[in-house]
Amino acid sequence: MSSDLKTYLAQRCALVDEQLQQSLPAAEVAPSTLHQAMRHSLFAGGKRLRPILCLAAAEACGGSLEDAAPLACAVECLHTYSLIHDDLPAMDDDDFRRGVPTCHKVYGEAIAILAGDAMQALAFELIARAKPSARHGHAAMLRELAVTAGSLHLVGGQVADLEGEGKALDLAALQFIHHNKTAALLCTSLRLGGMSANASPEQMQALQDFGMATGLAFQVIDDILDCTQSSEKLGKSAGKDEASGKSTYPALMGLEASREVARELTAKAHQALAVFNGNDARLGELADHLLGRDF
Ligand code: IPE
Ligand code: IPE
Ligand code: MG
Ligand code: MG
Ligand code: MG
Repeated sequence: MSSDLKTYLAQRCALVDEQLQQSLPAAEVAPSTLHQAMRHSLFAGGKRLRPILCLAAAEACGGSLEDAAPLACAVECLHTYSLIHDDLPAMDDDDFRRGVPTCHKVYGEAIAILAGDAMQALAFELIARAKPSARHGHAAMLRELAVTAGSLHLVGGQVADLEGEGKALDLAALQFIHHNKTAALLCTSLRLGGMSANASPEQMQALQDFGMATGLAFQVIDDILDCTQSSEKLGKSAGKDEASGKSTYPALMGLEASREVARELTAKAHQALAVFNGNDARLGELADHLLGRDF
């Protein structure tokens, strides 16, 4: 990674963390266990990729970091809720996340479920606090996240993922899972950034195409890392997909073909950025970074 990109990512992470700190009730606020649990998972050190994509999309569409910030925090809260629930014993049953014990390992299952519920609600509250733009009002912004979080996308994808355990799914079924459990939220992160910047229909379509391609590549890489990296490096339990009989790209087509799929999707993501005429506020660079990541 170039030192320039490293600095950029560190600065954006710091900005997002500062805004998130202000958005969450303090750990002492009652019920303190709940707020501690929410903070445990949120501030354990996620990569903050979705909020960073949200902010970059806003800038690519001529908007400001300030207007996009509440939306960036909203997608990180929604994502963190999905991780807390994804790790529960009834789902993937994972003990480590973001380099620390999972929420339910520290606070128990009931509090972890409720911390996830509260993080999801907070995501919508943050959108309601954001400034609407001329083309995109509050209703459109709230609907954008609601549809992505719901039964047709994130939650639906998680159900298909769990129901697919132990089965040999075909490529179409695997794509359905990956598009919905992961790509939809990446895409919405970008689209919300665009909405804060009053993006035109053409810009919104470009963010959609870029987001779906990058989002699918992101989950393909997540599958590859699960079977090629150590738990220490990932900050979460490696090798879990094979152990749980999950359908993944490497299981279906092997590692090298999976890497090729991720490369092709990243090339497709770059094509979608043509509408920005080179002023893509690092979106192209971020797509390459996601492809090359090793955790
Ligand atoms: C993990 O997402 C869950 C997937 C959708 C693959 P990230 O790899 O972005 O996790 P954090 O936010 O950095 O912990
Ligand atoms: C998680 O997919 C997707 C969501 C949380 C919505 P995974 O189950 O592959 O994510 P990790 O590997 O546990 O981070
Ligand atoms: Mg899962
Ligand atoms: Mg999981
Ligand atoms: Mg995974």
